[in-house]
Order: sequence, then structure tokens, then C-alpha cells
Amino acid sequence: MRVPFYDIKAQYLELQEELDRITHEVLSSGAYAPGKYVQALEQEVASQHGCKHGIAVNSGTDALRILMDAAGIGAGDEVITTAFTFVASVETIVQTGATPVFVDIDPVMMQIDPSLIETAITPRTKAILPIHLFGQLCPIRKVQAIAERYGLTILEDAAQALHSHHKGTYAGNFGRGAGISFYVTKNLGAAGDGGMIITNDDEIAERSRSMRVHGMGRERYYYDYLGYTSRLDEIQGAILLTKLSRVPAWNDRRGELAAIYHEVLKGTKGLALPQLLHGNNTTNHQFTVQLDRRDELQAFLREREIDSMIYYPVPIHFHAPYQHLAERGSLPVTERVSSRVLSLPIHPHLSDEQVRHAAETIRSFF
Ligand SMILES: Cc1ncc(COP(=O)(O)O)c(C=O)c1O
Repeated sequence: MRVPFYDIKAQYLELQEELDRITHEVLSSGAYAPGKYVQALEQEVASQHGCKHGIAVNSGTDALRILMDAAGIGAGDEVITTAFTFVASVETIVQTGATPVFVDIDPVMMQIDPSLIETAITPRTKAILPIHLFGQLCPIRKVQAIAERYGLTILEDAAQALHSHHKGTYAGNFGRGAGISFYVTKNLGAAGDGGMIITNDDEIAERSRSMRVHGMGRERYYYDYLGYTSRLDEIQGAILLTKLSRVPAWNDRRGELAAIYHEVLKGTKGLALPQLLHGNNTTNHQFTVQLDRRDELQAFLREREIDSMIYYPVPIHFHAPYQHLAERGSLPVTERVSSRVLSLPIHPHLSDEQVRHAAETIRSFF
């Protein structure tokens, strides 16, 4: 039985009628610049997160980059973050001219270890960029307490955290703003790239709105800031808005599939299952296990047509553009976790049988 990691086409087929109608409407209208659908998407996502503003942009990467610019992060500043992430979290800090400062992660949660933040703070520290990985928030209240004590700005990498909350407070509400990704494979994915800044901060919202269109002010062709070309196309807005209505049901389905993995794999010696931080929900963006014989298990599954992925195989400070930021060996937990993680198929169009089969195959490996 084949168990694919993604099935993007199945999402389309589930919503085919609505998606065909809405994309045809946009195409035939000739109104391709951000319009009513992008605006509705901004309002809907912001309100679902309890945030005042949503500013749709061209990608999650742009959301982070523009958010940092809008918050005034730049040359001479240090931004504390982690090296167990997708490269965009760190790339965007470097692009502002600031210096990323890595702290290690927690071996079980795989997210920032708040107990290590204080020793990384220097007089140049301006912000913390906590990353909410795999569908649940990092220990954000602890990060927030430290940021408050030291007067630091929090900018959340919520690329994987649409609909993720801690005790009912959603990503985007713990600092000056958050960047969400609508990349194809996210729980809400565009037919291409897309992203959004969500914030309660009027100044961040005003600047971000301007910066996504070259820094243009209220008057056309007058520029207030250095900016970007980072609109979300109307056709993507329409597609995302249509799919957004299905996200709660898709996330519930991911939860059911996660429960099957937990049921079958509970107590498997040598296999660590993902844990939920107290007070968090998870949208199960990824279902990521840890084990020593990771590569062996991946090959074993591949032979049996069960997909898996490694998020993330190589810590950021091992890559050429980022090697100067930290020595190899200086982030032991990040480095160890990178060698042990394996993400299992959990997209909402899998059947119970497929996931049970994947889980039982993993058990048979052990
Ligand atoms: C943690 C993290 N940060 C940033 C991004 C960047 O988002 P995008 O791919 O939409 O540019 C992603 C998504 O891939 C991500 O997973």
C-alpha cells in the first residue's frame, strides 16, 4: 500500500467546483492585483488569530523580511533564534543586516530552549525570533517573559503555525507580529507562494502595507520606505480563501491520523513520538518522530512505498552562508536532533488504513 507524503491534488479535487468557479471569476474579471478576495483573506486570517491586522504578501519569507524591516531590525542588531528551522527564518535576519544569534533547542520539543536565552543576550540584542515548528507554538510564554524583562521585541516565525495557539492565544499575539506561510504544502497552501503578516501593532501594519508595494505611501508614486514587490495575487487570495474554510476540518483529520500513530507506536522502545507542550494545541503540520536509526528506517519505509521526509537534516550553521555564525558542535542538541528526526505522512487525504499501515510497518522495523 503506497503512503504518499503529500497529496495536493486531492485538496483540489475536494473543492474542485468552488475553486474552478472562483479562479474563473478572477481570470475573466481581469482584476488580478490584490482586491476583494485578498482583503477578505486578510480579515479572516487576522480575525481567526484574534489579531487586528493581516497584510498579505508573496511568501512566508517576505512576511518575515517585511515584518523585521517594519520593526526596525537592521545593521548592528542581534536577533536571537534557533538553527533547527527552515533557512528562511535565518536568511531574512541576515538580509536586514542584523546578526542571528543561535540558542539551542529542547531535545524533546525540538523548539527553542528558553533556559538558554538569557546567556545569549548582549547589549546589541534587539529581538527574539521564536519559531513555532511543526504546528504547535514554542514555549512562547517563557520567551515572552524574558523579552519583557530585557525590553526585547518578539517577532514570531509562524510560517507553520496557522491556527496554533497557547491556551486560546494564537500566534501573532505574543510580540509585535508574526509571519505566516501559505506555501503549497502548508496546512493552508496556495497554488504557489503566499504569506501574511499578522499583527496588533498599527505602526507595523502601516509600514508592512506600504513596504509590500515598494514603500508607497497613501499617494500613488510617492514613497515613504524602502520596499519590495510582494503583493499576494488576487487569484491566490481567492484560492486561499476558498481553502481556508476547509482548514479546520483538515486539521481535525490530521489530529485523527496523529492519534492512530500514537496508538500504534506508543511504547516503541527507541522511538520518541511528538509531545504536546502543556496548554498548546497542535495542527499536526508535521508528525515528527526521533530515533537513532533514522536513515535505516527511512530506507526501510521507502522500500515499502511509505514516504517520509527529514525536516531538517542539516542545521543552519552547517551551511556555507551561515557557517560564520556558530561553530560546529556549539549547538549539540540541534545537531543531534537533526540526525534523528523523521516526519511521517499526515496529510488529511490519507485513509486510516494507510496511516495504520505506515505505523505498523514502523513497529515491524523495531
Ligand atoms: C519555519 C519556516 N519559516 C519560514 C518559511 C518561509 O515560508 P515560505 O516558504 O512561504 O517563503 C517556512 C516555510 O517554508 C518555514 O517552514
